[in-house]
Parts: sequence; C-alpha cells; structure tokens
Amino acid sequence: MVEAFAVASGKGGTGKTTSTLALGLALAETYDVTVVDADTGMANLLFHAGLDDADVTLHDLLLGERDIPVADACYERFGLTVVPCGTDLAGFREADPTRLHDVIAELAADTDVLLLDSPAALDSAASVLPIVLADRVVLVTQPTDLALSVALKVQEYAMSYGTGVAGVLFTEVGPADAIERITPKAERYFEGPIIGAVPDDDAARAARRAGQPLLAYAPDSPAAAAYRDAAAAIDVDGGEVDALADRFRSAVIPDPVKPIDSNRL
Ligand SMILES: Nc1ncnc2c1ncn2[C@@H]1O[C@H](COP(=O)(O)OP(=O)(O)OP(=O)(O)O)[C@@H](O)[C@H]1O
Ligand SMILES: [Mg+2]
Repeated sequence: MVEAFAVASGKGGTGKTTSTLALGLALAETYDVTVVDADTGMANLLFHAGLDDADVTLHDLLLGERDIPVADACYERFGLTVVPCGTDLAGFREADPTRLHDVIAELAADTDVLLLDSPAALDSAASVLPIVLADRVVLVTQPTDLALSVALKVQEYAMSYGTGVAGVLFTEVGPADAIERITPKAERYFEGPIIGAVPDDDAARAARRAGQPLLAYAPDSPAAAAYRDAAAAIDVDGGEVDALADRFRSAVIPDPVKPIDSNRL
C-alpha cells in the first residue's frame, strides 16, 4: 500500500518544509516514509535535512536527456528516505517537470507514505503537479483570514483534479492569533478535519539553522509534540501500488491557475 500526500499552502513561508519533515518523522514510527522536495523552483528541504551537499538531487532525475537512477537521489536520513532538490536556477530551467510522474511512480513502489513538499504558488505546471499527483493534500496555513483564503484556493484546485483533503494544519500559531475564531471557520470551509495547531516555537527556527528536522533536533519541544499529534490524526489509507503508479503515469499536465491577487481576498 502507498498513499501520496502533497504538503501545500499556496503561500510562502507557512512552514510547509518544516511540516513535511516533521510529519514524515512522526509517521516513520509506523510507516516506511519517503519525503520529496517537489518545490523544484525554490527548493529548501535540503537545508532542513542537512543535505546541502547532496551530489544528486531531484533536478538531476528530471533532466530529459539523462537517465540517472532514482535511487541515486535517495538519502536515508532520520529514519526517512529523503529526495532533496537542488537550488540552482539552471537546474530548474533544464528540468522537465512532467518527468515528476515517473520519478514519483518509482518511489511509490517502495514506500508506504510519500510526502511531497509542494511549491508556494500555483502558477506553473511545475508548481501544481505535486498537488495533482497526490492522493490527498495536507493544507498548511497560518491561522489568519488571508492565509486561510489562499489555502482554500489550493483546496479548490486540488479537488478539481480529484485530490482529496487529508486535513488542515495550523502552523506558527502565536498567542495573539485568534485560533478560537478561525477554527470554526476552517471547519466550515475545508473538506478535511483540522489535524492540529503547531505553536510558534523558537525550536523550529533553531532546528532550521542546525540543518535538522524539528523532531530530530528538539523532540521534546511543544511544536514537535503538536506535529506528532497531527500525524496521528492522519488516517493513512494506502491504495494499491500499481493503481497509484498507473495514475501518476497517465496524469494530465494540469493548467496552472492565475497568480492569486491577495488584494481581492
Ligand atoms: N512552528 C514554528 N514556529 C516558529 N518558526 C517556525 C515554525 N514553523 C516554521 N518556522 C520557521 O519559519 C520559516 C519558514 O518555514 P518553512 O521553511 O518550513 O516554510 P515553507 O512554507 O516551506 O517556506 P517556503 O514557502 O519558502 O518553502 C523557517 O525559518 C522555519 O524555521
Ligand atoms: Mg519550503
């Protein structure tokens, strides 16, 4: 069995990469987990996972003319299989995003849970593909009206491609945030449950600086505890490996959506 989740928000800096690795480490207690930096234009998972010096990355796997084995971009770290992505613009320009289908199909054959750290925008084929390919999306959002509106756009887009909603995860929740006001709103508008509220926690920033996932760096921090609870609230519902691989291979290249104009939200 395997289930692929896109960790997405439609907005930059909401904690997608932190969340991808944190949920990954928590789910790795039970499942065989592979984490992919599918943010091919603005990759940064490698910095969170101590893989800045990775020789082979997802960019290399997406090069049309070269045939690099997928295994060469897989790194065993923190109990996970991590597929980092390179950060240079040339690598992004030369990469063929449509090859992501095949790479993910191959990874899916050998894991229980795939977590795709997804781009902040929805404005190109490369940025929407992870959401289209995933079975379900984990919507990462700060508990503000603006962030919620953008996450709703992502939900709308995901559902139009048949991708379900695994849940909504509030991140960087500060004491001044009106989480009590926002939660019922989110429950009303989102298709999935609220799986957690991760507090704003210096441990998350320190983990990023140390190049380690939060759950490895500060497992006893309040944010780490919230991530473990959130992972427990996701009921992994794996489908057949072959069905998933077939779906990936046949998925149409989606139409990107127009950039979101936040003045109109
Ligand atoms: N719960 C938290 N408390 C405090 N800081 C946090 C928390 N979660 C994430 N951060 C910090 O916020 C910054 C952005 O987090 P992260 O890189 O995970 O976001 P992102 O959505 O992946 O960003 P991008 O859109 O640039 O890819 C990082 O410096 C991270 O350490
Ligand atoms: Mg990120």
